[in-house]
Amino acid sequence: MDKSASLTGREAFFEDDEIIVSKTDLKGHITYANDVFLKIAGYTEAEVLGKPHSLIRHPHMPRCVFKLLWDTIAGGDEIFAYVVNRCKNGDHYWVLAHVTPSRNTNGDIIGYHSNRRVPDRKIIEGTITPLYEQLRKKEESFDNRKEGMNAAFNDITELLESKGVAYDEFIATL
Ligand SMILES: Cc1cc2nc3c(=O)[nH]c(=O)nc-3n(C[C@H](O)[C@H](O)[C@H](O)COP(=O)(O)O)c2cc1C
Repeated sequence: MDKSASLTGREAFFEDDEIIVSKTDLKGHITYANDVFLKIAGYTEAEVLGKPHSLIRHPHMPRCVFKLLWDTIAGGDEIFAYVVNRCKNGDHYWVLAHVTPSRNTNGDIIGYHSNRRVPDRKIIEGTITPLYEQLRKKEESFDNRKEGMNAAFNDITELLESKGVAYDEFIATL
């Protein structure tokens, strides 16, 4: 089924003092989700545990953002990213996610951890929504999904180069 068919276009919100938390294994399968996660996404714990995190993927998210996320965390670094997620009922919610690798005592990466807070509305509306729309259009202009993702990824790289900043700095100074 095309999941986008059941999107409501309605935005869901969580509180400024709430943190949405989930943890995954190395492949991105959910190993932990806190109550705030379950409440806003509209799932029970049993419905999310063991599932790929793409369970809550929203079709408006550009693929290249997830490529950047995975390249960064698999390389051992942390990343901040604005993400729109899909609730079980088709609503959506925006977050500012901080995703980090979790390590064992030997320093090996054994999974990943994401903490998400309420994002700044002005940044979502003024910068992120138009940027993601542009990236998604670029991706959809290719027949081949991977080629589209790489082309949009190049667009992000060029945008950062034109501003003379690294991704972290770009996000931190929005
Ligand atoms: C710790 C962690 C948290 C993640 N959180 C989300 C999330 O909230 N929403 C989301 O769509 N993808 C999230 N992802 C990325 C997904 O694993 C996946 O790459 C993404 O949904 C794209 O899925 P697709 O490649 O099947 O389209 C997370 C990954 C990790 C490791």
